[in-house]
Amino acid sequence: MSEGLTLGSGAFAPDPVTHIEEAGAASVSEHHTPADAKALTMRVASITLVAETIRAIELVSADGSPLPPFSAGAHINLKLPGDLSRSYSLTNGPETTDRYIVAVNRDAASRGGSAYIAEQLKVGDVLPVDPPHNTFPLVDDAETSAFFAGGIGITPMLAMIRRLESLGKPWKLFYAARNRSSAAFVAELEALDAAAPGRVHFHFDDVEGKVMPLLKLAVGIPKAAHVYCCGPSRMIETFKASAGWRPEDNVHVEHFAGTNAKPTSDFTVALKRQGKEFFVKAGESIMDVLEANGVPVAHSCREGVCGTCETVVLEGECDHKDNVLSTREKDSNKLIMICCSGAKSGRLVLDL
Ligand code: FES
Repeated sequence: MSEGLTLGSGAFAPDPVTHIEEAGAASVSEHHTPADAKALTMRVASITLVAETIRAIELVSADGSPLPPFSAGAHINLKLPGDLSRSYSLTNGPETTDRYIVAVNRDAASRGGSAYIAEQLKVGDVLPVDPPHNTFPLVDDAETSAFFAGGIGITPMLAMIRRLESLGKPWKLFYAARNRSSAAFVAELEALDAAAPGRVHFHFDDVEGKVMPLLKLAVGIPKAAHVYCCGPSRMIETFKASAGWRPEDNVHVEHFAGTNAKPTSDFTVALKRQGKEFFVKAGESIMDVLEANGVPVAHSCREGVCGTCETVVLEGECDHKDNVLSTREKDSNKLIMICCSGAKSGRLVLDL
């Protein structure tokens, strides 16, 4: 999700406008959160340093009302001052229903989100938060599961591991970081490993003198396993290369960064419920055009990685540019990320 990622397997993502993935076969109903879902008003209950530059932020309902449930792998969008919206994966398991906990890495090249959280956000602050949205769902009835995390990519996987622990399901984690002090939740992961040794494999680049040998490690994971990766782009590419022999539905990826792509041809976008039509030129995004015409749309990353702008397609053929939808979902032509994707057909009708 964002801010130019150029790191090794263990490096931390810049300001992680969180994680997105190419999950297997999620349907529209599983994936789609209405873009006009009402924001929650949440209070910061605690801020805890969990690595040298990573803070865990615990959020509770500001008025005590129940929080919407979520599934492991979900993220929330924090609405920050300056019209900033940043998405972060929930690290707590879905059994914890009275709070949301995210972990935020302070990125040296922050565009504002992580810098604000590291330097200005304080306990007691109240802020709007979009309800949980899951573009990286855990398959919790899998025979076994394996997770490959790089840096801050551990966050959605921690929620998944907690879920599997609650179900008594087997799992393995391979977690890469530059060094021990930059890795988050180490003590908790070590405690999980102590309870059933062999489940957690740490890889610290400074100790090993190289990036995590993902290709080699992945060979030992059974074909029936569901495998997940969240980390820097190079790690994800290696992971994909390691998983070519696995069933497509068993392979799940969440990206930090978008593709910076925009529609490459002109088309007309029609908003069926609003009865409006607009012309989108090559190089513009649907989102740009809608906003220029006074149509508000939900957004966060604006680069096809957070899933916030996910919109149902009613007619027309999409030209997908995002890093959110799986190949199967893209082929189904039912959803589009309007911040980056365009149309192969001359007209696209959206459920807006
Ligand atoms: S705003 Fe993040 S995917 Fe479109």
